Amino acid sequence: MDLVDEGSFQRLSYRGPMKQVDQQASDPVRWSLLPSTAGVLADGQLTIGGCSVEDLAATYGTPLFIYDEEHLRSRCREAVAAFGPDVAYASKAFLCKAMAKLAHEEGMRIDVSTAGELHVALAAGVPGDRLVLHGNNKSEDELQAAIKASVSRIIVDSMDELNRLERLTEGLDDPVPVWLRITPGVHAHTHAFVQTGQEDSKFGFSVSSGAAEMAVARVESSAGLELKGIHAHIGSQVFDLANFAQAAAVVGAFFAPLDLEELCVGGGLGEAYVNAEDAPSMAEWATTTLEALRASGVPEGTRISAEPGRSIVARAGVTAYTVGTIKELPGLRTYVAVDGGMSDNPRPVLYGSGYEALLAREPKASRPSTIRLVGKHCESGDVLIEEASVPKDLHVGDILVTPVTGAYGSSMASNYNKVPRPAVVFVRDGVARIVVRRETLDDLLTLEP
Ligand code: LLP
Repeated sequence: MDLVDEGSFQRLSYRGPMKQVDQQASDPVRWSLLPSTAGVLADGQLTIGGCSVEDLAATYGTPLFIYDEEHLRSRCREAVAAFGPDVAYASKAFLCKAMAKLAHEEGMRIDVSTAGELHVALAAGVPGDRLVLHGNNKSEDELQAAIKASVSRIIVDSMDELNRLERLTEGLDDPVPVWLRITPGVHAHTHAFVQTGQEDSKFGFSVSSGAAEMAVARVESSAGLELKGIHAHIGSQVFDLANFAQAAAVVGAFFAPLDLEELCVGGGLGEAYVNAEDAPSMAEWATTTLEALRASGVPEGTRISAEPGRSIVARAGVTAYTVGTIKELPGLRTYVAVDGGMSDNPRPVLYGSGYEALLAREPKASRPSTIRLVGKHCESGDVLIEEASVPKDLHVGDILVTPVTGAYGSSMASNYNKVPRPAVVFVRDGVARIVVRRETLDDLLTLEP
């Protein structure tokens, strides 16, 4: 069950033998890749949250990130139902004040991994005691900010961080609650860039080398720190539940004798991005993990939590682009260029990850033509979909939608070529609200004296 290596593109989409969906390339985009409230108007056009995608594009411009608020909320509720009230939303997948507020309202904690994410979550009104702080190289300023905000847990990643924390907590009245991040030595079946549970990793304390045990002893001897629990995260876009079970077995065996109350198994549940993929459900992930933890001796009553990011937001979001140029090269291929690209979705370039495309005016159309979907940036690597299936009558001016862009899209967007970053709109019950406005050309100059 290895990754499919396609020349220079190592696909992030895990193509294991199980749970593959039988599809023809020309089939319409599978409806289950769209946000849960996606619908079709009488004239055939796509709606999300009761709003016409073509109207949203006309009103707010393109590229536009459109999030289905109902979908976001129901995924948060699913996570809480599967893992309980300590489950955290990994905000690196997509963060703005509206998202932090939404996840908080739905009962999730929020995982922040930098001072920036912490700042946004606090600005959204999320109380410190509902935040957890991650990071393999937290600065003193970041640790200080977290202590000041009374974040519920700091997840300690290294001995250097422990040194910093000991200095910063000297003389405090109350000890600062921490978890230790351990590395279970498990290779998750996913792209190498997002594997984090293997021995050769910049993250956490290795169990097998004894580093994790030493870190426990060190925290227990620190007056300023209180060891609350253990944390592990094996990687992202993981489809194979066996990987979670393997990690849980190692983490559980390490955790069981420590007599601690809390254990967090991280995030990483995979999401289907293209027609041929299918992913396990949140409930299946939780059941597999909890069973493996119990089998490894984790006592009843332990507060077990997780930290999903992608699986909360990925499918809730789509990107709407306007088609600007179509270049046909007979005998070679056709390039279709949209008004965004690697600045709003760097994932195809970074990880070779796959996407589908559909027309906002006819989302259920069959897609017999194969084109290369590219952006507007000044390099040939600016590819959104290497081999995109699209309807035959695709033309300049069409609104083209790429589904499953809710995770690590807006949050990884850049200003490459000084392209202003897209707006983000939440839709629900026929109402749209801008939660992040589009950058203006003048915004591009705000940092310059
Ligand atoms: N917890 C920790 C400590 C993490 O580092 C991450 C993701 C998560 C939870 C959430 O994982 P998720 O459920 O979202 O898979 N930029 C890459 C993904 C990087 C993931 C980083 N850490 C991508 O676009 O695929």
